[in-house]
Amino acid sequence: MLSHATTVHIDLGERSYGIAIGAALLDDSASYAALPHASAALIVTNTTVAPLYAKRLRVALAGRYAQIHEVHLPDGEEHKTWQTLNLIFDALLTHGCDRKTVLYALGGGVIGDMTGFAAACYMRGVPFVQVPTTLLAQVDSSVGGKTAINHPLGKNMIGAFYQPRLVVCDLATLDTLPARELAAGLAEVIKYGPIADMALFAWLEQNMDALLARDRAALAHAVKRSCEIKAAVVGADEREAGLRAILNFGHTFGHAIEAGMGYGVWLHGEGVAAGMVMAAELSRRLGLVDAAFVERLTRLIERAGLPTRSPVLDAADNAGRYLELMRVDKKAEAGEIRFVLIDGPGQAVMRAAPDALVREVIDQCCAAA
Ligand code: NAD
Ligand code: GLY
Repeated sequence: MLSHATTVHIDLGERSYGIAIGAALLDDSASYAALPHASAALIVTNTTVAPLYAKRLRVALAGRYAQIHEVHLPDGEEHKTWQTLNLIFDALLTHGCDRKTVLYALGGGVIGDMTGFAAACYMRGVPFVQVPTTLLAQVDSSVGGKTAINHPLGKNMIGAFYQPRLVVCDLATLDTLPARELAAGLAEVIKYGPIADMALFAWLEQNMDALLARDRAALAHAVKRSCEIKAAVVGADEREAGLRAILNFGHTFGHAIEAGMGYGVWLHGEGVAAGMVMAAELSRRLGLVDAAFVERLTRLIERAGLPTRSPVLDAADNAGRYLELMRVDKKAEAGEIRFVLIDGPGQAVMRAAPDALVREVIDQCCAAA
């Protein structure tokens, strides 16, 4: 382990790896020392992150690879598509990259998900490293091996489970993150409380101001605890046979918001935030939690600067539109939507719910157009 980093291990047999968390890790060549030898690397990043961090990563990797290539993708959720994915394959083939070439995902969750999918596919699988530079990617998307692109009909519908060899979370990169993106990342941190760890939830209530002020120690704790929870869940259920689905608390409603509004209009974390309020309210209506819990969760989301009211997606039949979009969710079975609900604070459960009840929740939680 690097002396200035904390490492969280994710135990997946031969696919095990470490998540290094600390400051100034990105440009420290020691961060990458344990990776197997290869002659070439491809840094996959976007037009926003490249000017900030690509050169620093390239310098850190200079001693490891004879050739280091870069591809700069267009920035944004709306570019998480086949067409953009193909730019990675174009770069790999144009540079004559072999099957030992290591892909480095330098950026947020969009870059991480697309780079991982490209790594899973290129020559039927090449190694890849996650270097997440958003809070959301550091606490969630860079860990656990879910990789994907969007389809116009559904979020993250085309993808693969494919684990990185290493995750390097450099907390200093969060200094340049826009405030709206920092808040979006906090949604995924808050998520871990109701599903697994109410002590983390209470800590967030105490430390939300410090997190918003980017206090390094507070961020380090939030990233470490989030990665520990995610590593435990993924270690127990890598391919989401059951337990792993709890990590999707708020996502069934949230993905409908993202797709329904048009990818990139609401940030992923914003959709998850409003979606968690809806899922908590559905849990309450099913008798699983009380109103005080829903109120407590709503207040914390609000304090993070995140939306607690969901958008109207269709003026004529809003609930119908939500239901239509949610039936495309990956957790749906035979057209029946399965929700991650809270079965008492700190405990998640997967359940279907009557459409009529879901409609009531949507009507209650959506802001007027
Ligand atoms: P993102 O990747 O779009 O990044 C957000 C914005 O911040 C982008 O404009 C990006 O260019 C910019 N940015 C990144 N790092 C920066 C930095 N350090 N300084 C300044 N700007 C920076 O969004 P995200 O919130 O990181 O990720 C969302 C995506 O992650 C969604 O597509 C979602 O589906 C996916 N996701 C995947 C998983 C998973 O398990 N694979 C989990 C959660 C979310
Ligand atoms: N973000 C959900 C998962 O990794 O399973």
